[in-house]
Amino acid sequence: MHEILRLDAPGVTVAIEWELGRVPVWRHLGAPLGADTALLHGWRATDTQRLPPGTLDRLDGVPLLPGSGNGHHFAEGVRLHAQGQGAVHEWVAQSYTRVDRAQAQTLTLHLVDAVVHSDALHAEVALTLYRDSGVLAVRTRLHNPSAQAWALEHGPSACLPVAAHFTDVAYCHGQWAHEFQWKRRPLGREGWFANNTRGKTSHEQHPSCALLGAHADDLHGEVLLAHLAWSGNHQLALQRQGDGGHALLGGVHFLPGEQSLPAGHTWESPVLLLAYSSQGWCGASQRLHQHARSQVLRWGGGAMRARPVHLNTWEAVYFDHDQATLRDLADAAAAVGVERFVLDDGWFPGRPNDKSGLGDWWPDPAKYPQGLGPLIDHVRARGMEFGLWVEPEMVSPDSALYRAHPDWALGSAGRALQTGRHQLVLDLGRAEVADYLFDKLDALLRAHPIAYLKWDMNRDYAQAENALGQPVAAAQVLALYALLERLHQAHPGLEIESCASGGGRMDLGVLRHTQRFWTSDNNDAVARVAIQHGAQRLFPLEVLGAHVGPAPAHATGRSQSLAFRCAVALFGHMGVEADVRHLGDAERAELRRWIDLYRHWRGVLHGARQWQGSTDSGVWWLAAQADCALLGVFTTAAPDTPHHAPLRLPDAWGAAHWRVRLIAHAGQERARGDAPAPWWQALAHGGVRLSGSELCAHGLPLPQMNPESALVFSLQREPAPDTPMETPSP
Ligand code: GLA
Repeated sequence: MHEILRLDAPGVTVAIEWELGRVPVWRHLGAPLGADTALLHGWRATDTQRLPPGTLDRLDGVPLLPGSGNGHHFAEGVRLHAQGQGAVHEWVAQSYTRVDRAQAQTLTLHLVDAVVHSDALHAEVALTLYRDSGVLAVRTRLHNPSAQAWALEHGPSACLPVAAHFTDVAYCHGQWAHEFQWKRRPLGREGWFANNTRGKTSHEQHPSCALLGAHADDLHGEVLLAHLAWSGNHQLALQRQGDGGHALLGGVHFLPGEQSLPAGHTWESPVLLLAYSSQGWCGASQRLHQHARSQVLRWGGGAMRARPVHLNTWEAVYFDHDQATLRDLADAAAAVGVERFVLDDGWFPGRPNDKSGLGDWWPDPAKYPQGLGPLIDHVRARGMEFGLWVEPEMVSPDSALYRAHPDWALGSAGRALQTGRHQLVLDLGRAEVADYLFDKLDALLRAHPIAYLKWDMNRDYAQAENALGQPVAAAQVLALYALLERLHQAHPGLEIESCASGGGRMDLGVLRHTQRFWTSDNNDAVARVAIQHGAQRLFPLEVLGAHVGPAPAHATGRSQSLAFRCAVALFGHMGVEADVRHLGDAERAELRRWIDLYRHWRGVLHGARQWQGSTDSGVWWLAAQADCALLGVFTTAAPDTPHHAPLRLPDAWGAAHWRVRLIAHAGQERARGDAPAPWWQALAHGGVRLSGSELCAHGLPLPQMNPESALVFSLQREPAPDTPMETPSP
């Protein structure tokens, strides 16, 4: 007889059909089921269907772990062989354990390959459902108890069911300075496939996708959001099933011959995360944000402290590090309210440009004759923390490190080395390389009060082989995590930013070891609205670095007003990436006002429940705590209509009353100068008291704005005598 193994959290149920000696199959993943599940308990999945013509003589649903032996022909399933033999596998139920903890329930399912000899391969699939977020985390282990080595060509983290009513897939692609561009399309018969071999999370193929019901949108309908917590090569695939649903498989993409399973060894996959919501894409995103906050992020001192305003030197001085200039820049930064001064690329020897120097992690004696100490002292004397840019995984062929250890770089024996941004990748899995990098960074961190590292990674992999000719792309990711962890242990208060030419390494795998992402090298605020909109679908605002850049923007040549650039940077971990020495008085005062606004409201913006949506000419972002929220409405394109449609807030807001105030704006209203503006006046002076039901059912009337405008509102909960004050769960 079969058993149904269930996991339940608020708003979600997971059910697996389990029968000893048979392949466990998924029965349900999604909306909550009641206790009375006669269908699941009384009937096997196969009993509810009849064999169609032209099939194998047995039916199964979506398996927990696909093997070809029972007819699950998934290219992205487990692919194992021993020198070309034994490639058929069938992962059947052996035993399971269930652990209930305060934070989560975990089902660990032990499977064995159904083959008639005693040293059959074992698999273990662990499903953890977190109570607070409702996120399901799945990871797979494969164990080889035999005396022979197996080659693991592919090992998914998970194989998950996507029911047929999820008709659309959304995935995010991009390129440098154009990250997180989500596209939605019908899933259809052809399914969907993403493959990344760039060695990092990548701008181009993010390890995430969303499955949406036909009518699901930002605020309504059923959505499954999947994310692989991994910072390297990956595959995600949606393969059509017989009932019109799909199987979602995701995991590491191995290079040929990269992964083996030696005798007695166990391989462990990274975690695939799945967030289900019946409240639209935002509901699913909120679950993933909550997971990042409660299970992934680690803060020195145990809790996030106020996220300090950054000044990053890159677009102000690039490689041109003149200490007098930098001191002036620090003075000007402190004067506008900056709290952390980050010295970007160019501080180490042989670095007049990006062609040399990487690997030599000590201060350039020409630019810093007394080391970094005097500049750091100067910065700290102005009340700011000091941060430093590094790119530890890389080496320039023109560097002392490369000249001493050319064999520390990855390459491919007998081939000309393929550089990227003139640099090579170090073999991080080699102990002396990791030790060298740790020692150099540790020495800097011990010598100086450095609060923050911007950890960059600026090239794709091309020849990811070590000196022994072995492919090591996945090992590099694990070695990176280990190196970051070692630094974290040695310097628990240190914050690290994950940057890869902007947002090329943003995922919940690396976020376990870092505290901020550099979202994009593109500081053009119009482009940024789209990039941040896409990134917010996966990550909470407090980890998304957002800087006020110069005008014209260096990435696009376009200019926007300072106010608009500030409004966009407000919704993130705010910073400035411009030469603030040359601001006029009015601009300096304006920047200071926006920075003060951020400092005042960051406690609401960070750790908030976030929603987002589109208008006909832009987007809106809402970040809410229990009693207070900030709403940003951004107009990026020319509006299509003379009046703005009222902005309807998420249903969750209906239960309370709110004072809505316009606290800042950028850009002009699209109206005649002589037209009275009573609504604007009321919003801007004292605010208006509105019921949640008006805000949700009717919407907030908004002025129609010109392109490149922003309206920032605060919403403060006001007591409503006869309604309970509750924040609804996601
Ligand atoms: C990358 C980063 C930039 C900057 C430069 C420095 O491109 O994304 O922010 O740090 O490297 O070389």
